[in-house]
Amino acid sequence: MESRRDHRASSRLLVGAVALLCLCAAASGQLSCNFYKASCPNLDSTVQARVSAAMKAEARMGASLLRLHFHDCFVNGCDGSILLDGPDSEKLALPNLNSVRGYEVIDAIKADLEQACPGVVSCADVVAYAAKYGVLLSGGPDYDVRLGRKDGPVANQSGANSNLPSPFNSITVIAQKFKDVGLNTKDVVVLSGAHTIGRSRCVLFRSRLANFSATDSVDPTMDSALASSLQQLCSGGGDGNQTADLDAGSADAFDNHYYKNLLANKGLLSSDQGLFSSPDGVNATRALVQAYSANSQRFLYDFGVSMVRMGNIAPLNASAGQIRTKCSAVN
Ligand code: HEM
Ligand SMILES: *[C@@H]1O[C@H](CO)[C@@H](O)[C@H](O)[C@H]1NC(C)=O
Ligand SMILES: *[C@@H]1O[C@H](CO)[C@@H](O)[C@H](O)[C@H]1NC(C)=O
Ligand SMILES: *[C@@H]1O[C@H](CO)[C@@H](O)[C@H](O)[C@H]1NC(C)=O
Ligand SMILES: *[C@@H]1O[C@H](CO)[C@@H](O)[C@H](O)[C@H]1NC(C)=O
Ligand SMILES: *[C@@H]1O[C@H](CO)[C@@H](O)[C@H](O)[C@H]1NC(C)=O
Repeated sequence: MESRRDHRASSRLLVGAVALLCLCAAASGQLSCNFYKASCPNLDSTVQARVSAAMKAEARMGASLLRLHFHDCFVNGCDGSILLDGPDSEKLALPNLNSVRGYEVIDAIKADLEQACPGVVSCADVVAYAAKYGVLLSGGPDYDVRLGRKDGPVANQSGANSNLPSPFNSITVIAQKFKDVGLNTKDVVVLSGAHTIGRSRCVLFRSRLANFSATDSVDPTMDSALASSLQQLCSGGGDGNQTADLDAGSADAFDNHYYKNLLANKGLLSSDQGLFSSPDGVNATRALVQAYSANSQRFLYDFGVSMVRMGNIAPLNASAGQIRTKCSAVN
């Protein structure tokens, strides 16, 4: 029984791997893998070199670049709007302020590209490509990133505040926010697996550690040893800026350990553990968490598929967008 299921899963993997490859030219107005093949042949090596150097200095940067792409895509589509400066910037929205990192890596890649092929590669594509290398150089899947996005003309701070999921949202609310941008509940579970790398500040999970409810001081769906080590970490300094690994025990490796942690009540954020333990998560997401905890290959493959889906959120075409010269301002 078990082995038949494994066999089925691996033949599906083979079929899928072929489907994931970018073999055909994209229809007009759609993204494609070889969009800059002629116009900027150094794109791949430039992004790889910059992300690799940044991650040698700080392994976490791979995670930060992945999250930057997610926070770009959920607000007006993947259009580089998160990079724009100004009083109405997305950078100042609650989910991003003092939280999203890696802007300087994007700027460095963009500066290299403006030397090599001026005015050709959009900032939105730089963000998508940097995320791809953040995943790959952390040990994750080598999915083919689709390209050809244009940069958007406006930042949308209120959109960032409303569209991005909060760690205090229920799984039902998070699934609705994904649905609002065309993603489904499976994407919620798969893409939450991004938390296999990276960190979170105490302020975003310490409500689970003390005064949790009328009956429980600590969130009963958190392992007690993890809770006491986090209590220690988060009490020092007391301002909530200390950070903990999102995937305790496997912090910088892109693997399915995140899901194994959820089965052991070792998820960090309420929105992580809720995929396995919350009443609505039990109905909607628990079975997939179990499947990914047992099958690393399946998770890594599905992650690439969902990243392509997320990267396809409302790409702008030539008439609606531009190629910014500097990512922080419109031309
Ligand atoms: C499902 C709903 C999600 C919620 C509620 C959520 C929430 C969070 C929170 C609260 C943090 C810590 C931020 C901080 O410390 O300031 C975080 C970090 C992170 N998130 Fe998510 N996230 C979600 C989905 C995603 C998705 C879809 C991705 C990417 C595909 C992602 C990638 C990351 C990464 C890589 C980090 C670590 C960043 C770093 O260390 O710099 N998250 N997330
Ligand atoms: C470009 O986008 C506009 C606005 O969304 C749309 O009306 C138009 O059909 C698109 N053109 C192509 C070639 O996709
Ligand atoms: C916490 O981090 C934010 C952003 O870096 C900073 O403004 C604040 O002063 C920090 N708090 C302390 C006590 O360092
Ligand atoms: C900002 O985002 C919201 C939510 O997605 C959307 O309804 C609104 O049209 C956006 N505003 C602009 C100016 O793009
Ligand atoms: C828990 O709540 C009590 C009563 O409101 C308060 O005195 C105490 O400081 C709180 N503890 C923490 C760790 O927040
Ligand atoms: C879970 O599913 C059951 C059976 O369909 C339903 O009665 C219950 O209300 C659901 N719970 C949540 C929190 O969605």
